[in-house]
Amino acid sequence: MAPEKQEKTVSSTNKLTAASFRELLERLALADGAGEEEESVIPKKFEEYKFWKTQPVPKFDDENDVEGPIDPNTNISAVPTEPLRMLKDFEWVTLDVCDEKQLTEIYSLLTENYVEDSSSMLRFDYSAKFLQWALMPPGYVKDWHVGVRVKSSGKLVAFISAIPVQVRVRDRVFERCSEVNFLCVHKKLRSKRLTPVLIKEVTRRCHLKNIWQAIYTAGIVVPSPISTCRYLHRSINWKKLYDIGFSPLPLGSSEEREIERFGLPKKTELPNLRRMEAKDVEQVCDLLTRFLERYELAQLFTHKEVEHWLLCGNPVSKGPVIWTYVVEDPETKKITDFFSFYSLPSSVSGNPKYNHISAAYLFYYATESYPRDGSDSAQEKYIHRLKELLQSALILANNFWNPNFFLLEQKHLISAIHYGKDVRHSTVTNHTIPHHFHFLYFNHPRRPQQTNQNLSNHLRGVFTV
Ligand SMILES: CC(C)(COP(=O)(O)OP(=O)(O)OC[C@H]1O[C@@H](n2cnc3c(N)ncnc32)[C@H](O)[C@@H]1OP(=O)(O)O)[C@@H](O)C(=O)NCCC(=O)NCCS
Repeated sequence: MAPEKQEKTVSSTNKLTAASFRELLERLALADGAGEEEESVIPKKFEEYKFWKTQPVPKFDDENDVEGPIDPNTNISAVPTEPLRMLKDFEWVTLDVCDEKQLTEIYSLLTENYVEDSSSMLRFDYSAKFLQWALMPPGYVKDWHVGVRVKSSGKLVAFISAIPVQVRVRDRVFERCSEVNFLCVHKKLRSKRLTPVLIKEVTRRCHLKNIWQAIYTAGIVVPSPISTCRYLHRSINWKKLYDIGFSPLPLGSSEEREIERFGLPKKTELPNLRRMEAKDVEQVCDLLTRFLERYELAQLFTHKEVEHWLLCGNPVSKGPVIWTYVVEDPETKKITDFFSFYSLPSSVSGNPKYNHISAAYLFYYATESYPRDGSDSAQEKYIHRLKELLQSALILANNFWNPNFFLLEQKHLISAIHYGKDVRHSTVTNHTIPHHFHFLYFNHPRRPQQTNQNLSNHLRGVFTV
């Protein structure tokens, strides 16, 4: 690390502002060299995005300072009530994710065609139960589970979905917003411009519910990311990852050494850690809300949403989808920390020995130990706490279903469990799914958040999973 980076201080004052918090995050990322990632460059000019240039999204170099929708029109009566024209031989369908048969159809489409690595070796394999959990939060809109079928056979060949979310961008709260996800077009129908039709159709359906903003992520660069994240893997079952070609054997090391290096203890050491229960919902929601306040863009949660997203016992997510743990102060009974992780396996193709790898993904977390000021001791305390929480999450995930790796979506967290050399950057392999992903905000805000042609310089002020 360059000395000047080491010397970088968070703030000359002790007050932790949003800007100094951002500096802290950057410093955390730089601390282990994670800031030295390769640049991800914008692949083409804004004008070359045939579809996206027609949409209310900011240009890459848009430095307009005005907050607010790009397209201010919110006239529902002008929204077409009929779906967009579909390609000949295909038809729109609204899928019922409570219906086992239809849920299985979505599962099959995604499991065979969804996000994969560049060599098509690994592909996300969301379980049907996971899809129900992800698509049915409180207030979900059935009409936003949009599919395309082949007219003659009825086969489902494309899917896109949205769920309602509340988002805060700096000081402004958008109570009515949607999050678009699970965009998928069957491999045989690629490059036929079906994606713009799917996006326009789900947008139309959101407009009909008086929703005019959306947040979404994409593995490719579309105009214009408000933040960019990078997947980071912490191997757990190194041998299996090595066997399938995901992890390399570092020069000068041996298989035995790598296996030992990634080994985990069986027991967590963090005191007062226990599984989250229904009685914790209110406190967890409060802690999460306060924790997210220091990010410029974050999702806001109601108690019902916290229950849905974090509690294993609710009717939808019952089963092995999400695990949430809390730390409770035994005297005050206050929840001081929590973390959650979910299970998302990937299918493996072309390997004689394995057809799946399992993975745990870090989901939401929060801690009272976040730095309330810019002092070094506050930051050290925060980093130490994150380290304890993540180590516990790793051990618990490993004990539950022995995932092959633990995945972090927030770059600054890497330094928190980067003791020893446990954390593998995704650069160790080409088999990342996908390598970076970008947060986008449809029709707001006009002002990009510290946007820059060099995406790796983007603000990491976004916390939404
Ligand atoms: C993503 C996917 C639906 C794109 O389909 P496609 O057949 O390659 O693209 P189409 O011909 O239908 O449409 C091309 C347009 O869609 C845009 N597009 C492609 N992928 C996109 C994405 N993930 N998000 C938003 N827009 C996207 C392209 O930029 C292009 O628009 P442009 O002319 O303005 O640049 C398809 O590759 C797929 O199903 N991939 C696997 C699942 C996946 O990656 N889903 C996205 C999750 S992030």
